[in-house]
Amino acid sequence: MEVKRAKITAVGHYLPEHRMTNHDLEKLVDTNDEWIRTRTGIEERRILKDPDKATAFMGTEAAKEVLENRGISAEEIDLIILATVTPDYFFPATACLVQKNIGAKNAFAFDLSAACSGFLYALSTGSMYIESGRAQKVLVIGTDKMSSILNYEDRSTCILFGDGAGAVLLEESDDETGLIDQKHYVEGDSDCALYQPAGGSLNPATPETVEKGLHYLKQDGRAVFKKATMGMADVSLEIMKINNLDPEDVAWLVPHQANLRIIDATARRMGVSSEKVMVNINKYGNTTAGTIPLCLYDWQEKLNYGDNLILAAFGGGFTWGAIYLKWGTK
Ligand code: UT7
Repeated sequence: MEVKRAKITAVGHYLPEHRMTNHDLEKLVDTNDEWIRTRTGIEERRILKDPDKATAFMGTEAAKEVLENRGISAEEIDLIILATVTPDYFFPATACLVQKNIGAKNAFAFDLSAACSGFLYALSTGSMYIESGRAQKVLVIGTDKMSSILNYEDRSTCILFGDGAGAVLLEESDDETGLIDQKHYVEGDSDCALYQPAGGSLNPATPETVEKGLHYLKQDGRAVFKKATMGMADVSLEIMKINNLDPEDVAWLVPHQANLRIIDATARRMGVSSEKVMVNINKYGNTTAGTIPLCLYDWQEKLNYGDNLILAAFGGGFTWGAIYLKWGTK
């Protein structure tokens, strides 16, 4: 039986206009531009200021751009998979809100929660629907309004994240381009090194949880840093080895943007030179599920048909993984 392959045929994005610089953060917490730049690589991040807009809005805008770039109507979409840790509501799923907003009346839709690895998990899941022939057009969206769960009095976390969304369309490939391999891992974070303590069924919202700041993201930065550096580098090298890729065969590394030091360590381990690494953490910070599609969006003009791309991520869960794909749009 001939195996179908899924490929990315269009990319879209949304970034809020408001830029929060490191200097802006100096006014909120005891930090400084030099510390943030040297420890993380971040110079500024985007913040969605409008209180009436959130994750679904950004995902909707990114999805609309995908449809426009591909020149298709929303009614042609079969499935929407939306990765996020900052859904508009616990339920209904944010994917359902996007489905309504864009008018994808023939699609089913669901959210997927894998934190910073969410987009890669969603891309892998979406590719299965194409490969099995159960869907022809799948929208994969990574969107997060991280500012909604940040404590702007906690310097160890509020400087790291930004808001934004990216989206891609998956369709069947008619040649050797497309998603070739994927490798994903989980190691349950029983020490809660990266999590949002309250708001779920274990610690439902009460005046006390709010007063204690338990609805904000909490992170043991050093512990996550160690795991992320190992995890992203190991899985990227592993997927290269399995697919007999030498460093010179890799046209682009598309890494999750959590920390420039983690990205550099991953590239070094792969033997991939820095000019082949997509980095936009300086402009957007860590947008969680948004980072990888935002890289694809920013670099799409530079991508050549047949380029080998390694997409790699590490995030809360812990979740991590890598995807090997051959770029298939001309
Ligand atoms: O995307 C999901 C996965 N997340 C990640 O991959 C993030 C992984 N972690 C990291 O990127 C890094 O651990 C951080 C950027 C969060 C922190 O960098 P670090 O080099 O690990 O710093 P640290 O936490 O070890 O802190 C070093 C010092 C501490 O002071 P003392 O104890 O040495 O006196 C912190 O209190 O830096 C201090 N510090 C700050 N100073 C100025 C922590 N945050 C700040 C800040 N400004 N914003």
